[in-house]
Amino acid sequence: SNYENILTESHDKVGLITLNRPKALNALSSDLFHEVNDALKKFDDDSSIGAIVITGNERVFSAGADIKEMADKTFSKSYVTNFLGHWGEINNIKKPVIAAVNGFALGGGCELAMSCDIIYAGETAKFGQPEIKLGLIPGAGGTQRLTRVVGKSKAMEMVLSGRTFTALEAEQWGLVSKVFPVGEVLEKSIELGQELAGFSQPVIQAAKESVNAAYELSLREGCRFERRIFQALFSLNDSKEGRIAFEQKREPKWTHD
Ligand code: HXC
Repeated sequence: SNYENILTESHDKVGLITLNRPKALNALSSDLFHEVNDALKKFDDDSSIGAIVITGNERVFSAGADIKEMADKTFSKSYVTNFLGHWGEINNIKKPVIAAVNGFALGGGCELAMSCDIIYAGETAKFGQPEIKLGLIPGAGGTQRLTRVVGKSKAMEMVLSGRTFTALEAEQWGLVSKVFPVGEVLEKSIELGQELAGFSQPVIQAAKESVNAAYELSLREGCRFERRIFQALFSLNDSKEGRIAFEQKREPKWTHD
C-alpha cells in the first residue's frame, strides 16, 4: 500500500491496520487519520474481509490528536474547515472493528479506540482524556461515548482531571471487554476478528447496526428496530442455511446472501 503513517495487511479474513508513526507516539495527524479512513473503507468494501483490527505498537496505541498540528488553529479556521470532522467516518464502517490497545490510548487515541466496536487491551495499557491539561476538551466523542459507556461520575473524573486509568480499571467499567498479557493482545484480537469473519456478513452487519442503535434510540424504538431487522433476516439464504444446518447437525456454509 502507499500509506506513510499506517501499515495494512490481511490475516485470513481480517484486515489489520497498524498505526505507524512511532516517533510521534502515533499522534493522529490529519494525514494519518485520512489514511486510516481510506484503509477502513477499502477493507469494508472488500468481500474477502469480514472484520477489521486497529492497533498501535506495544508502547503506545496513540497519544492522541497531533498537538503540533493544532498549534496555529483558530476557531474560525477550524470551524469553516470542520477540523477533525473526518474522524466521524469510522462510524460508517459496517464490518466489526476491533481495537487492540497496548500502552497509551490518550485523548484522540482513547476516542479512536472507543469508536471501535470492541476494545481488547494489554495489561499495561493506559486510557485517558488529558485534553484539559492542554486547555482543551475531547473533540471526537470522548465526552459522549465515555459517559454512555462508563457513566457520569467516571466520565467526569476522566475528562475533568485528565488522569490516566489502567486497563484493569477500564475493564471493570466495561470500557474494555478483555485484558491480556501485552504480547497476546494483537493475536487475540485477530482471532476474535476471524471468529466474527466466520459468520454471515449481512447478519453480522445487522447485529452491529442493531447494537449501535441502542446509543441513538429509546428502548421502545430500539427494540422495534431490532425486531424489524430480526424479522427481515428470515429472507436471507444464510438464515435458512443456519437453521437447516442446526437440524442436520452440521456446520453451516454461509454464502453471505
Ligand atoms: C504530537 C506528540 C504527541 C501528540 C507525543 N508526541 N504525543 N506529538 N501530538 N499528541 C511526541 C512528543 O512531542 C515527542 O516528540 C515524542 O512524541 C515522544 O513523546 P514524549 O513526550 O517524549 O514521550 P514520553 O515522555 O514517554 O511521554 C509519553 C506521553 C506524552 C505521556 C504519552 O507524550 C504525552 O503526554 N503526550 C500527549 C498526550 C496528550 O495530551 N494527548 C491528547 C492530545 S489532544 P519529540 O519531537 O519531542 O521527540 C487530543 C484532542 C482530541 O487528542 C480531540 C479530538 C480528536
